[in-house]
Amino acid sequence: MAASKALPKGSPSASLLKCMREYAILSADEAAEMIQNGDTIAIGGFTTAGSVKVITKSLADRANAIHADGRPFAVRVLSGASTDEAVDDTLASAGAISYRTPYQTSGPLRQSINARTVEFVDMHLSSMMPLLKCGALGAIDYAIFEAAAVYRDGSILLTSAVGAVPTFARMAKHILIELNEYHPNDLEGLHDIYELDLPPRTREIPIYRPSDRIGATLMRVNPAKIAGIVHINVPDHGTAMTPADETSRKIGENIAQLLIDEMRSGRMGESFFPIQAGVGNVSNALLAALYSSPSIPQFSMYSEIVQDTVIDGIDTDRIRFASSAGLSVSPPVLRRIYSNLPHYLKKLTLRPQEISNHPEVIRRLGVIGINTALEVDIWGNVNSTHVCGTHLMNGIGGSGDFTRNSCISIFATPSTAKGGSISAIVPHCSHIDHTEHDTQFIVTEFGVADLRGKGPMQRARTLIDHCAHPDYRSQLDEYLHMQETGRIAVKIQKAFTFHEKYIATKSMKYT
Ligand code: COA
Repeated sequence: MAASKALPKGSPSASLLKCMREYAILSADEAAEMIQNGDTIAIGGFTTAGSVKVITKSLADRANAIHADGRPFAVRVLSGASTDEAVDDTLASAGAISYRTPYQTSGPLRQSINARTVEFVDMHLSSMMPLLKCGALGAIDYAIFEAAAVYRDGSILLTSAVGAVPTFARMAKHILIELNEYHPNDLEGLHDIYELDLPPRTREIPIYRPSDRIGATLMRVNPAKIAGIVHINVPDHGTAMTPADETSRKIGENIAQLLIDEMRSGRMGESFFPIQAGVGNVSNALLAALYSSPSIPQFSMYSEIVQDTVIDGIDTDRIRFASSAGLSVSPPVLRRIYSNLPHYLKKLTLRPQEISNHPEVIRRLGVIGINTALEVDIWGNVNSTHVCGTHLMNGIGGSGDFTRNSCISIFATPSTAKGGSISAIVPHCSHIDHTEHDTQFIVTEFGVADLRGKGPMQRARTLIDHCAHPDYRSQLDEYLHMQETGRIAVKIQKAFTFHEKYIATKSMKYT
């Protein structure tokens, strides 16, 4: 399992034609027909980028027909991150998923997970690969992924994402490929395929700048494992961002100011550290605020995902380079990239998620990690995943990979949700994804709480004063003064009064 090596220049891959004749050409239905009840399927792509688009739809149809016949049919589904609706939405709606990991954002799947008909394992995105490789997640029956070109020797040109595909493809017993004509077959150079060995053979990852390329441009699989190729021409279904609302805009400005202050303090040396930012309005607003600030120099992204605003930043020369596991951009922006590929190949690279999210690289580069929280407690613990501690929203995704290892780690959230009836700052998180030991800055539209170097009572004070919505500050103060002894003023009996109140009255407000 040595790290993949770049193919030498002039290697057969460069000259081989896109060849399908050596492989079985299947319809989506024929491909789906191969998959059996109880199989584990590993889906390519990362978010909607490069996701599987047709085979899983046929699989869902097949599941529906089998269910109508009174027989069971469900598969275990692994992925890189969230997926196109053709995967999670469609399969979950057909009741065809029994187990899912590591992340999802699908409404129907969320419902099934919360109804406990699907077993969901919420996993750090960087942790899945070592677990898969050592066999702890079981065997993969089919790796199903999209490609822009497939060569006779088993070399594969991936599309708009890498995600977990190299590991899935290597570990799977069989491979099914959607050869998607929508993606040009001159994408070579966009991907940087590099797989890590398991301990004790793990080597260092020689990435010293976000733009360093260390692996192969093509992925290699055993051609004998390719069970078939389905020919498609379907775009990625990435969505354009909606314009930032006032709250997101304010949060973005607060984060930009925080970073300017960090830069001026000299803690970033001569430079500005690379940024990781998730998908969503806050990220968008933040990037917009960074672009418009004359104090912020050109910077790079070392992130798990690239969205439209990152490409805007490249186009306006505000972003030097963006490294990620997938291009989660809208169709017009993907067309923009594809229409000027030589330019963007110098500005973008797509890596396996075990590299984009690897603690070693994140620490070495001094990444500024910016993620979004559902709720934060006054001690600095963060809940990213479970509403009222019980109901899954999406999953931890890469937020833990970056929070724990970033040089500057930021959680952003509007101070309230659901029209003000939920406070994002609570006495105690109802579920904890990120502990007080890993969080540094919490930012809402009201301000910034710098938790670094502060003990519990100081943290509580700064979070209530700088981040909580004014409507909830006195309630939080009241809680803070209930417990008179101990290093942390947790009043166990009252720790969840905000949540209890919300469950009973649909509002966390006492009056
Ligand atoms: N209790 C209940 N619901 C809450 C809530 C809380 N404390 N805080 C937010 N919500 C609801 C919002 O009302 C909204 O619901 P709606 O869609 O019905 O309006 C929804 O959660 C999303 O919140 P929003 O404020 O729009 O933020 P978001 O889209 O940025 O999502 C997370 C926030 C936490 C759900 C999302 O960032 C996430 O899944 N994070 C974990 C994964 C991650 O961080 N990945 C790494 C980067 S890609």
